[in-house]
This record gives sequence, structure tokens and C-alpha cells, in this order.
Amino acid sequence: MSGKKRVLSGIRATGRLHLGNYLGAVKGMLSLQDNPDYETLYMIADLHTMTTPYDPEELRVNRREVVMDYLAAGLDPKRSIIFAQSDVPEHTELAFYFATVVSVARMQHLPTFKDKVKQYPKAVTMALLNYPILMAADILAYKAELVPVGVDQEPHLEIAREIARKMNQTYGTDFPEPQRFETSGGYVPSLVGEGKMSKSVSGSYITLTDDLSTIRKRLATVPTDSGKGEKVPEKGGVANLLVLVGLFMGEDRRRTCEAQYRSEGIRYQALKDELSEAIHRELEPFQRRRNLLTEDQPYVDRVLREGSEKARRIARETLDRVRGKVGLG
Ligand code: TYM
Repeated sequence: MSGKKRVLSGIRATGRLHLGNYLGAVKGMLSLQDNPDYETLYMIADLHTMTTPYDPEELRVNRREVVMDYLAAGLDPKRSIIFAQSDVPEHTELAFYFATVVSVARMQHLPTFKDKVKQYPKAVTMALLNYPILMAADILAYKAELVPVGVDQEPHLEIAREIARKMNQTYGTDFPEPQRFETSGGYVPSLVGEGKMSKSVSGSYITLTDDLSTIRKRLATVPTDSGKGEKVPEKGGVANLLVLVGLFMGEDRRRTCEAQYRSEGIRYQALKDELSEAIHRELEPFQRRRNLLTEDQPYVDRVLREGSEKARRIARETLDRVRGKVGLG
């Protein structure tokens, strides 16, 4: 082992990545990849995709889409281990051992579980209940200490820390307590005016592959008011638009908009045009690289194959020790 601290993160294979995934997770993944103090592992969470209703054919396609999004965003197989979760069966094995120290009630009370139950009341499966346990196994199979993810994943990281503590107490293992690596876009709001940008809420997101006219159309739907008033809204369409202005045009520009709101008023059409262009400018290099990758599928396959071999070597070492500790070795 290199003595470097490890980093692990993942994204489910549910479709094209959106600005929330990019700012909340991928940007953090990129900045840690550039930091020589860390060894970075980034996976496609294909098993987690199966925790809510899904189509097997779409899963097959989306696994590759996420790899291409990763590579086009700048994740580099020479500097990061890029792999698919299902190619490293040690994750599911470790999740089983972890399940021996977690109560059913603890899982049922998690806010992220309750949200999914509301969303899919007819599909409350054991796989869904196990979601956070598998996520803890993803991280701890590599003894990763830092996890670049959005704010919404904090309850899952809390579970991973609890599991690490309980495993260490019960079986004498030496798992670290992983922390979230924060980015400035840890919570990217929805375009529909409430909640966060999310793949499962149509109209709420801008994907990384959207062209300028699509971005314009999507921003046109953000609900706005008359554009002026004494108090700048803290919730709703205007507030969300201003968060995006801050993230893509800078905090100074956002403050100017707030001052405008309090005085002559915001001209939303002009602001939305300017914002569309700023977002598109940031996405252009990504889109250029992504078009090239679509034509090089063998490269995408090779990245996954080599990545899973490297990841397995590390995960196997952890599992060999854990098997011994839990009484199976
Ligand atoms: P997923 O696919 O739901 O989300 C992927 C990443 O995108 C972030 N994200 C956001 N960040 C800011 N604002 C938003 N509106 C927004 N929407 C999504 C999420 O926080 C996440 O970082 N459970 C993980 C997948 C996973 C994982 C892991 C992550 C499985 N195992 C181990 C880290 C470590 C998830 O939510 O995927």
C-alpha cells in the first residue's frame, strides 16, 4: 500500500449526469484526483441502480454512459481507479457482514429511505432497505476516508461511520470513519422551484450533454416573480436561479443581481440568457471530449476491465482480514 489516504465515490447508472451530479460529486472527484496525497477510486454504482424499479437493458446502456461522462469530465484511468461496482463482488460480501451490526429499525428511519418509500410505495424491497449498508461496504472495502458526494448523501455517510465503529467494537476490525469531501455546489437546487436537482424529477435538471438551446429552454421554465422587492426570496424559483448564477457566474454577479432585485428589478429574460451561455461555456469542453469517446467503445471497456482488476486486488485484501475477524477465516 502506498501510504496515501484513499478516496471513493460513485454515481448510480440511472442516465446522463446532470449539473447536481457534476457540481456536488464530480468536481470534488476531480480535485482529489489532482491531489498527490490521495489514491482515488471512482465507481459506477450499478448495483444501487437496482434498488428502485429499473429496466435491465437501460442499465446495460447507462453503465457505459456514466463511464463516458466520467472520462469526458476529466477522470483519468492513469490517476484514478475507475470501475463498476458489480465487477467487485467483495462489496456485496462485505455488505452482508455489515448487516450483522445494523438494526432493521435504524434503516427504516433513515430520511433517504422514507423519501424512496414515498416515491415508490409499491417497490419497497430488501435491496432498497440495504442501500446504505452496501454504500458503507463500497467505501470501507477500500478503507476510504474521504467521499466526494453532495449534501443529500450525508445520512448515508453517518451510517457508514456507525458501521465502522460497530464493526471495530464487535469484531476488532480497523475501519476508518469516512467524511464527506465538500464542494461549493454540494446542493444544486431544482429548476422547478422546490427541492434539489434530481434525475427522478422531470424538468428539474440540466444534463451535461444539453446544447445551448436546450439549456435555454430548460431555464425558461424556472418560475420567477415580478423581479423586484425589498427582500430577495430565500426559497423558490428566484432563489434557485440566483444560486445557479453564483455557481456559474460567480458570487459577485449574484450579489449584483440581489442589489438589482432590491432596486430597479431583475430582467429575468436577459439574466436567463446570460446564465444559459455561462453554463454552456463550462460544459463545452466536456461535450467535445464526450463525442470523441462515443466512437471509442473498446477504450471504455478496457478502462472498466483494468479498473476492476485493480479495485479487486485492494478489496480482496480487506475481505481476507474481515473474514478472519468475523470467525470465517
Ligand atoms: P446518485 O446517483 O443519486 O448521485 C450521485 C452524486 O450526485 C450528487 N447529487 C447532487 N449534488 C448536489 N446537488 C444535487 N442536486 C445533487 N443531486 C445528486 C449526490 O450527492 C451524489 O454524490 N448513493 C450515491 C451512489 C453511491 C456512492 C457509493 C457514493 C453508491 N455507493 C459510495 C459514494 C460512495 C448516490 O446518491 O448516487
